[in-house]
Amino acid sequence: MKAVSFYQSAFSSYLQEEIKVQEPKNLYEPISYILNIGGKRLRPVMVLMAAEVFGTSHKKALDAALAIEVFHNFSLMHDDIMDAAPIRRGKESVHEKWNINTAILSGDAMLINAYQLFENYQGATFRELATLFTKTAIKVCEGQQYDVDFETIEKVSLEEYIKMIRCKTAVLVGAALEMGAIIAGAQEDAKKIIYDYGVNLGIAFQLQDDYLDAFGDPESFGKQVGGDIIENKKTFLYLKAIEKSSAQEAAQLEHLYTITPADATEKIETVKSIFESSGAATLAKAEIERYTAKAFEVLKQLEIEENKKEMLLQFGNSLMTRTV
Ligand code: IPE
Ligand code: IPE
Ligand code: MG
Ligand code: MG
Ligand code: MG
Repeated sequence: MKAVSFYQSAFSSYLQEEIKVQEPKNLYEPISYILNIGGKRLRPVMVLMAAEVFGTSHKKALDAALAIEVFHNFSLMHDDIMDAAPIRRGKESVHEKWNINTAILSGDAMLINAYQLFENYQGATFRELATLFTKTAIKVCEGQQYDVDFETIEKVSLEEYIKMIRCKTAVLVGAALEMGAIIAGAQEDAKKIIYDYGVNLGIAFQLQDDYLDAFGDPESFGKQVGGDIIENKKTFLYLKAIEKSSAQEAAQLEHLYTITPADATEKIETVKSIFESSGAATLAKAEIERYTAKAFEVLKQLEIEENKKEMLLQFGNSLMTRTV
């Protein structure tokens, strides 16, 4: 097995070759922009890694890896419009740098381009990849709609929140791993296990994203810290804080999540202090560990060589300790 950095650089060379700015520039420049301002490339690395875990060269998985990364970046381009997010990966988001219409259409073109990339596979492999992709993409839309609905719904349960993040984030992580397995012609039960591993990791990953949105370092996080608080996102932190804080603080929190002040500095500070004093911040960390451990339990069932399992495990662990 190769190191994660190997897959990252193989992927980034492929992306450079394949993504070129064409005419009309106003359609293609934003695509090139979002794909080149950084990003951890976790999902494409997962596609490549899974292909090799199941015995096929990562090279065969490059188109699927690119499709997944292009799709992910499409979803971010539209997500930033929906979340009114000014910053992505430390740079202006596309709708800020250009305008909303540009971000809509360039995003649409990326979604279509993701489909096109799967056309590089043949026969049964193509069919299986396309089926998994469409099933996943529609779930992401469902998750994104729940996410927006929850901003204004008064009562959201933890269960509903987990369902929402499973849809908007975790299924794509699961699909990335399963795609590598499909390309390698892995057995049905192995595909199911690697998918479930990815989904559990993906849930931990989104919990960590929500944690960092409030408590990340503004210097390095790359997104507007407190963005979820400004947008009244009912994350794990919020839901737990409501459950665990005093009646008075819970009422204050509920009130704060109905307003959108022009200057949100004070709101963010108050909310973060309740997240901490209520124990919600600590509980979020524990929940991230719980889902990562669940993922590792699932992984145990997979019958592959120990060094391969170890690599998947290390990758999962590295997600938990990330700061961006
Ligand atoms: C951000 O994903 C969106 C979420 C699902 C939380 P990443 O944190 O993987 O974003 P990049 O691609 O590394 O910027
Ligand atoms: C995004 O969730 C999930 C998708 C883009 C589908 P977030 O809204 O939390 O992602 P960030 O924090 O903007 O990256
Ligand atoms: Mg967002
Ligand atoms: Mg969002
Ligand atoms: Mg987020």
